[in-house]
Amino acid sequence: MAVPTLHSQRPTAHFTAERNWINDPNGLIQLDSVYHLFYQHNPNGPFWGDMHWGHATSRDLVHWKHQPLALFPDHNYDAAGVFSGCAVRVGDVVYFHYTGVQVNTPVSGAQGRPCLAISRDGLRTFEKHPANPLVAEPPAGVGGGDFRDHSIWREADGWHMAVGASIEQKFGAVWHYRSDDLVKWDDLGPMIVDDAPARNGQMWECPDFFALGNQHVLLTSPIPLAKTISMVGSWNGRTFTPAAAPRTHVYGGCFYAPQSFWDEAGRRIEIGWLWEKDQPQNRQPHPRGWAGAMSLPRVLSLADNGALLAQPAPEIERLRRDERALEAATQDETVLENIAGDYLEMHVRLEASAGGRAGIAVRRSPDGAEQTRIICDFARRELWVDRTHAGSGTDDNADPCPLPSAGDAIDLRILIDHSVLEIYIDGGRACWIDRIYPARADSIGVSLFAEAGIASLQGRAWEWAE
Ligand code: FRU
Repeated sequence: MAVPTLHSQRPTAHFTAERNWINDPNGLIQLDSVYHLFYQHNPNGPFWGDMHWGHATSRDLVHWKHQPLALFPDHNYDAAGVFSGCAVRVGDVVYFHYTGVQVNTPVSGAQGRPCLAISRDGLRTFEKHPANPLVAEPPAGVGGGDFRDHSIWREADGWHMAVGASIEQKFGAVWHYRSDDLVKWDDLGPMIVDDAPARNGQMWECPDFFALGNQHVLLTSPIPLAKTISMVGSWNGRTFTPAAAPRTHVYGGCFYAPQSFWDEAGRRIEIGWLWEKDQPQNRQPHPRGWAGAMSLPRVLSLADNGALLAQPAPEIERLRRDERALEAATQDETVLENIAGDYLEMHVRLEASAGGRAGIAVRRSPDGAEQTRIICDFARRELWVDRTHAGSGTDDNADPCPLPSAGDAIDLRILIDHSVLEIYIDGGRACWIDRIYPARADSIGVSLFAEAGIASLQGRAWEWAE
């Protein structure tokens, strides 16, 4: 049997760098119909360090074209790294606010400060602003190593900026600035300070703040939770008040630092970073030569009850080939005969007998020795992915995902792109994203299984092709 090379697990619908390391998406914007994805990138190795901004473009959110590096650590104020940031457009000019990290600062830790680069030629060249850094020091109470990453939006009274922070290295916070010209920023104090660090982490990286419907949404990735949390609430121009405790935005333990933007069709589109799960030490070079992928672009919206929904951008459906019907039932396990592969999509309704436990195995070898199990426990009301036999990198510390709806049936949209598994539950009310690395070339099967009671499924499936 052929053993796949490590490279064969590289996703294709999910953006990856040609080589070397990537993390957070940055500067997302659509300009004259072209989508631009910038991202944290180490061009010198498949490990975190020496942060630059990489750049890619797409016309359909599915196929990405690599572009030359956009931002380099080439000034005193960003010599230790061009960290995360965002983009806004004014006429033909695009402003990129990024986090410049300076070496040898008096304050310990990576001293991040808001900096600006401007592009006036349709995102071909980028000029650092002479006023950098735009904010000279972090606010009092916020340590130098706890101040970075930006989200910028426009209101009637000017531009507003949210910066990720920690208060006294204890409480996650988002700091708020206002500006008339995107260069001179006034400190308006914290827009939110968390009071539950045991649950919500101590430093809130990569805040993404925006109005959605008649609500406001804050997404942030707290240290040390290694996941993104979401809050929906109200904004009075100075402070953000979540309507409820923060929720896990994506389950699975590899989705981090998402950023979202309004596209020209008026959709709020989000992309998050998916880290590799077979190389926990991100300072070690990854043996594959590349590390990190972006999630599929996801459209964010609010449900009638105010919950945040995320669904893959419909453009992804262009990958579908050869639709087929799925129908199966079992008290044990049954292999689905008409769908197999490492690049496919299934949309099914999975049902179990009352209070049962059922699921779908993917990337399954014919003998079942290697498989990734998506398990729904209708008694415990939880879904999780069992990676114990999924292949290498089976570290598993992801929390189970509470089922978003009542009953003994669930709507699952399962998207498999080699080493990426995305699962959308009940129309995007909940989501699990995982990384899997089957070692066997024949781990391409799909099965329905019942662990307690009877399981059945009905739905549709497609192989994907470029
Ligand atoms: C999040 C993060 C950001 C920072 C960037 C550095 O993953 O740590 O806070 O700007 O990555 O690469």
